Amino acid sequence: MANVLKGKKVVLGITGSIAAYKACYLIRGLIKRGAEVQVVITPAGKEFITPITLSALTSKPVISDFFAQRDGTWHSHVDLGLWADIMLIAPATASTIAKMANGVADNMLVTTYLSAKAPVFVAPAMDLDMYAHPSTQKNLDILRSFGNHIIEPACGELASHLVGKGRMEEPENIILQLETYFAAQEGVLVGKKILITAGPTYEKIDPVRFIGNYSSGKMGYALADECASRGAQVILVTGPTQQKTHYPMFRCIHTESAQEMYEAATANFAESDAAILSAAVADYTPKKVAEKKMKREKTGEMTLDLRPTHDIAQQLGRMKKEQGDNKLLIGFALETDDEQHNAEEKMLRKNFDFIVLNSLNDKGAGFRCDTNKITIIDRGNRTDYPLKPKSEVAADIIDRLVEELKKKN
Ligand code: CTP
Repeated sequence: MANVLKGKKVVLGITGSIAAYKACYLIRGLIKRGAEVQVVITPAGKEFITPITLSALTSKPVISDFFAQRDGTWHSHVDLGLWADIMLIAPATASTIAKMANGVADNMLVTTYLSAKAPVFVAPAMDLDMYAHPSTQKNLDILRSFGNHIIEPACGELASHLVGKGRMEEPENIILQLETYFAAQEGVLVGKKILITAGPTYEKIDPVRFIGNYSSGKMGYALADECASRGAQVILVTGPTQQKTHYPMFRCIHTESAQEMYEAATANFAESDAAILSAAVADYTPKKVAEKKMKREKTGEMTLDLRPTHDIAQQLGRMKKEQGDNKLLIGFALETDDEQHNAEEKMLRKNFDFIVLNSLNDKGAGFRCDTNKITIIDRGNRTDYPLKPKSEVAADIIDRLVEELKKKN
């Protein structure tokens, strides 16, 4: 990545969290990349780290009060807000997040935030209970609605898996997010919203069992990363996976069943410019979910009654037609036989602009691999690509998406 942080002016807000010591590593990393850092610290922040350390690292006096103690000079939060190319609040406590969300300007950091014109990044740091409290979550949502970027440890963990949540993201990942943000500012997909479905679905049988599939989500996450790196706003509707991503402009919606994925995808399609459906969605789900763990019958066989799920792709294909056919819809097909014919039929049935075919007959392609070998089929043409890492396959698919989007506009 080009050195996008060189010469950037960063206002670094530090608040009263034990993670305040990590601000030193942040400053070091930012300065190493050629950024200029001005620290603004809250009174509580100074309890955790001394301004002397911070001013030594930044080669600038640390700002905390409205007036400089030595000579009474007024510190202008407005000037500081205008000076900044980036405002980063790391660590951000629940209390500072609440003040930012509600405009409680009782310290220099929040007043600077209120007058900042630059993009704002917030890295929360608190214990899990405080983080999970609806009040904190609501305040974070308010900040998101202001367009602020909330930096949290990698998105992509299982929805129920809260371990590590609330912990501040590591300094090197925070810096990576700032870099990708600025790199993406120049990307061709700036201003485009792209909806992506990824991973498998789990269809519950009883409290401990489900029907699933081997999809790892790797292809979907690689596509999401690729879109984000070109400046798109990505809405990633993901099934349960172990994948992670460090891009800040992601909205990750965690789902489990085909029904949940259907609801999330259809709710977000209208505002999207394109949708890429890479999820391996269950076609059937148990008619009834047993409330208690099902016991093994001593004798005899067991039959599970299944009912069909919604076809997300088909529904989005329908919505696309209703909404004037000016969005792009891209599907995947994983076939074992009569590949081209099946893929073409799927593309037409689901109203895709093009379909990405991967064959289970190709070694190194499909589920649980880091590589993939694809063929892109559209209305009339077929392009074969060689076996490549999934990140490069994603770049090929997004190159094609960019071409098609240009034709639509
Ligand atoms: N798909 C979807 N929702 C479903 C099933 C499939 O969105 N309930 C999407 C997949 O994400 C993929 C495309 O539709 O982009 C094709 O998936 P596939 O499972 O091959 O399609 P099916 O219609 O289930 O076809 P088949 O007859 O092969 O089962």
